[in-house]
Amino acid sequence: MINDDLFEPYDRLIQIEVLGRRVAVPENNRLLRCFQFLALRSISYGDFCWNGDCTNCQFWYKDGDPAACEDKTALACRFRVREGLVITRLNDCVKLEDPER
Ligand code: FES
Repeated sequence: MINDDLFEPYDRLIQIEVLGRRVAVPENNRLLRCFQFLALRSISYGDFCWNGDCTNCQFWYKDGDPAACEDKTALACRFRVREGLVITRLNDCVKLEDPER
C-alpha cells in the first residue's frame, strides 16, 4: 500500500459512496485522508489547510435518516469516516480524479 505513514493505523478498508460511486477507503481515518487515499496526487497538492480553517474540503452527506430532507455538511479534514457514508456533493477544490491511478 502506498504511503502508509500518511494514514492513521487501520486494519481494513470500508465501503463508502462518493457521488454515486462505491469506493473502499481506510477505516479510522479522517475523510480528507480517505480522499487522499483515492487520489494521492490531487489531494496532496490541493489547496487544503488540513486543520478546519479554509473550508475547501467541505462536503455534503446523507446521515442515514431517510426522513431527513436536507443533506448535512461537514469538513472532510475534521470528519472521521464511517462505513456506508453517502457523500452527495463535494467542494470544487476536492478533485478525486488522479491521473496516476
Ligand atoms: S482542509 Fe481546510 S478546512 Fe479542511
